[in-house]
Amino acid sequence: MPFSQTASIRDRARLQRLVGAVSPAKSASVLDIATGPGYVALAFAEVCREVIGVDLTPGMLELAETHRRQRKLSNASFQSAVAEKLPFPARRFDVVVSRLALHHFRAPARVITEAVRVCRPGGTIAIEDLVASEHPRRAAYQDHIEKLRDPSHTKTLSATGLKRLLARAGLEIQSLSSSELLQDAERWLSTSSTPEPVARKVRALLMQDEKHDLSGLCPFHSDGRLQFRHNTLTVVARKI
Ligand SMILES: C[S@@+](CC[C@H](N)C(=O)[O-])C[C@H]1O[C@@H](n2cnc3c(N)ncnc32)[C@H](O)[C@@H]1O
Repeated sequence: MPFSQTASIRDRARLQRLVGAVSPAKSASVLDIATGPGYVALAFAEVCREVIGVDLTPGMLELAETHRRQRKLSNASFQSAVAEKLPFPARRFDVVVSRLALHHFRAPARVITEAVRVCRPGGTIAIEDLVASEHPRRAAYQDHIEKLRDPSHTKTLSATGLKRLLARAGLEIQSLSSSELLQDAERWLSTSSTPEPVARKVRALLMQDEKHDLSGLCPFHSDGRLQFRHNTLTVVARKI
């Protein structure tokens, strides 16, 4: 199953929780960084004046545009851009959001600096992402699994690491909300089209984790299927 069809990515309740956490004004102009299939951008477009989604993958941008057309949302648009160098002037947006993308960036601090630059003073920056264990060795075990499964994975920050990243960029953190995504290992591996020999290694590492509690993913078997939990954190912050 492709990533864009994953239930947890399309989940409207989850999208609406993110929009609700930001609580944007109807007049807001919103930027969605690393928009992928555009679900986050389109959820904001339902309640805001204007939304721009950016991504570096052409296929994702095409998909986002298809979703936009299907939903007849004329106040959203998508364009190609790298998160580390956004093609917008300073203070262009009221809200800057990014979901499930920080763990793909090579230089997350650079992306947050860009997000802050294009946000107006008093505006909102909202980041939702996976978070890893606070214990470096356990976080490294998770990253090892994640990178094997998807080489575009860079690093999952801990909740403390994510909050520190935003505070260091000068942001005032306003709200934090944690949640869990239940993952079925086989579905998760098929989403990333992980080659079978690598998938075998991933399964073995998850099963070691199940036995010895090595990462915080808390793998377990249910009805013969290997499952685990991804912890996520949504941070809503204000540009001072
Ligand atoms: C896991 S998807 C998340 C998609 C979307 N934000 C969502 O939550 O549904 C990650 C996206 O980040 C994009 N991406 C990764 N690195 C990027 C970068 N440096 N600049 C822009 N987009 C990037 C990828 O192309 C991909 O579409």
